[in-house]
Amino acid sequence: MAGALEGKVALISGTGSGMGRAGALRFAAEGATVVGCDLNVDGNAETIALVQAAGGKMHGLAPIDLGDFAQCKRWVEFAVETHGRIDILWNNASACVFATIEAMSIEDWDFSIRNELSLVFATTKAAWPHLCADGGVIINTASVAGHGGGPGGIAHSATKAAVLAMTHVMAAEGAPHGIRAVSISPGAIDTPGSAEQLAQPGARDALLGQSLVPRLGLPEDIARAAVFLASDAAEFVTGTDLLVDGGLVNHG
Ligand SMILES: NC(=O)c1ccc[n+]([C@@H]2O[C@H](COP(=O)([O-])OP(=O)(O)OC[C@H]3O[C@@H](n4cnc5c(N)ncnc54)[C@H](O)[C@@H]3O)[C@@H](O)[C@H]2O)c1
Repeated sequence: MAGALEGKVALISGTGSGMGRAGALRFAAEGATVVGCDLNVDGNAETIALVQAAGGKMHGLAPIDLGDFAQCKRWVEFAVETHGRIDILWNNASACVFATIEAMSIEDWDFSIRNELSLVFATTKAAWPHLCADGGVIINTASVAGHGGGPGGIAHSATKAAVLAMTHVMAAEGAPHGIRAVSISPGAIDTPGSAEQLAQPGARDALLGQSLVPRLGLPEDIARAAVFLASDAAEFVTGTDLLVDGGLVNHG
């Protein structure tokens, strides 16, 4: 049986870890050719090896720093030169500093804006002419943090709320070109990226106490949702956000 993403060319950022790795494995299993990238050379190479060992198609570039527009363009052009087009762009990669307003330095704030917000714009801008040429799907990873905010999340909530808002604009400007744009808001997902926060005393129990599904999320939960959003089955879905959070936001 054909996979949900058979024959699609899917760019996924941050494929060296967590949800990017799970996404690469899932998308490839659904028939996509995955073009990944990451700052982390070893992590990205490991993901490529895992996808290929499972019989999937993936290649990618690392190190790529998506905070730098020239490197965004290098990644996108590499994909277009190799495959002739882009069908899916999943802006998954990010890095952010978690600190209270008092403790957050201006440098840490600037780092977070660059690596959690500007990279979404810059990568989308680099891919935009190619997506406009043939249509396609943009998936932006937002967060439950973009729907609210708690102590220590000043930069994270600000960037992720902005990602939610930017998705609306991408959908509106993309519609005439056959581009759909959507976001996913993960809840608490067990990844290398969340390990430090989840290791704080009481953090896991507090999150589980607010969740309707009695476990932390797994990267594969997000990957499966992204497959649906990227697929033709979601052709009427654009300009919206999908919470994949075990019920955290609406019932916590
Ligand atoms: N883990 C969670 O609980 C959670 C919850 C909500 C949203 N998210 C979001 O989900 C996405 C994936 O998170 P994760 O937990 O898998 O993170 P992760 O840290 O495990 O993986 C993120 C990857 O992005 C890469 N990256 C960071 N900055 C980059 C840059 N400038 N250029 C290229 N690559 C870069 C990192 O090297 C890393 O490999 C992020 O956007 C994150 O904000 C995570």
